[in-house]
Amino acid sequence: MSSATMKKAAAEAAMEWVIDGSIIGVGTGSTADFFIEALARNPMKIKGAVASSDSTAEKLRSAGIDVLDLNATGTLSLYVDGADEVNPRLELIKGGGGALTREKIVAAASTRFVCIADSSKQVDRLGEFPLPIEVLPMARSYVAREIVKIGGDPELRDRFTTDNGNVILDIYNMNLSDPTAVEQRINQLAGVVTCGLFALRPADILLVGRDGGEVEKTTRD
Ligand code: 5RP
Repeated sequence: MSSATMKKAAAEAAMEWVIDGSIIGVGTGSTADFFIEALARNPMKIKGAVASSDSTAEKLRSAGIDVLDLNATGTLSLYVDGADEVNPRLELIKGGGGALTREKIVAAASTRFVCIADSSKQVDRLGEFPLPIEVLPMARSYVAREIVKIGGDPELRDRFTTDNGNVILDIYNMNLSDPTAVEQRINQLAGVVTCGLFALRPADILLVGRDGGEVEKTTRD
């Protein structure tokens, strides 16, 4: 079974958490795109959605779903998004698509975060996937030097600007054995907007599409 089929199965399973008439947060990436397609197909009507990126906003609008401003919605009941890696504690690395900051904001503003993924995203320990960090352009070199001091190998993402007008440093070989501590440490560097670790606000529910077509559910303790 292809990874796209597994992503689609996980995305469709997330519909179980969507409540009629609610406003939900929607993530970014190919798995989140399958979720938007599932929303568009479902006769149940949500009131609208908060998008975690410009590209997701465009896809939601094309699917006939109202895109709302998080400042006007208050707390969201649900956020659905993919991940680049997820560990057994449902801590994540996100930002492969560069939308990590808005994703983190929408996740933080949501009561429940349902993470949808194919089985390749599950790891025992985070860190094989390079950790993305969104950085203000003028701080790029300073932050890169600070990252080297704490053991990471930063690489500027080529020809990439985030929806917020910033750059991304992808960090290789970082020791992520304590994801919460690393998240806090990186986030406090001057010029860092946020890093792609979701350990302070992990997922609440993980839905993983598997090879045989089934979807495995894990709930965080
Ligand atoms: C975007 C993300 C995505 O959730 C992550 O990259 C997974 O993408 P995909 O669903 O395409 O595998 O964090 O910033």
